[in-house]
Amino acid sequence: MPAAPKPETLAAFEQAKGFMPTREGLALHAAATEAAALGLPLLEVGTYCGRSTILLADAARETGVTAITIDHHRGSEEQQPGWDYHDPDTIDPELGRMDTLPTFRRTLHKAGLEDHVVAIVGRSPQIAAFWRTPLGLVFIDGGHTDEHATADYEGWAPHIAEGGLLLIHDVFPDPEDEFTGQAPYRIYLQALESGAFTEVSATDSLRVLRRTRAGI
Ligand SMILES: C[S@@+](CC[C@H](N)C(=O)[O-])C[C@H]1O[C@@H](n2cnc3c(N)ncnc32)[C@H](O)[C@@H]1O
Repeated sequence: MPAAPKPETLAAFEQAKGFMPTREGLALHAAATEAAALGLPLLEVGTYCGRSTILLADAARETGVTAITIDHHRGSEEQQPGWDYHDPDTIDPELGRMDTLPTFRRTLHKAGLEDHVVAIVGRSPQIAAFWRTPLGLVFIDGGHTDEHATADYEGWAPHIAEGGLLLIHDVFPDPEDEFTGQAPYRIYLQALESGAFTEVSATDSLRVLRRTRAGI
């Protein structure tokens, strides 16, 4: 049986603002619990309001590792005003710009998971450029343009330890199915073609790959 979150954690996840459906969330949690056995941090690119972070944090708490989550909190292209995924409640009224950090902090506090998460506010490639710590899991759910998805893959995949997991969200092989572009699908292909990663599972648009040799 794959590891499952406690009912109260699942309820907090389902109540949280965000984009991850429950089926994918359960697959994320199971993968995070498995990867945490390596004793290394679990890292997410794309915090938004903390929905998926709750599940990484729960897996981290249960296994004694730390979840790290990265976001500049200004939203992706498709979340800006006028776009399909925009939520007006994410606008900072003083600045008139998106700021998902306050909601993220409230979400994590209410779920009782603050102690298990280190949140880094900034641009993913800028943080990856100075990162030196091996990771048990990298979950890519940041910007969905080719520029951002490729930078996330090339910036973070090198830090995944042997046996660690690479998770990619919003992988849509059929262009008819996608709403935010196929860049995540292209980095998924890049990972497989590198020969460094092997597919473990697919749950709807979530892909789980394992590092089986060095490289990206
Ligand atoms: C699809 S949302 C993440 C959804 C979240 N994982 C959930 O479960 O609800 C993508 C997030 O990535 C962030 N983002 C986009 N490009 C980024 C970048 N280059 N660096 C840091 N964060 C980025 C956006 O601000 C946005 O909050």
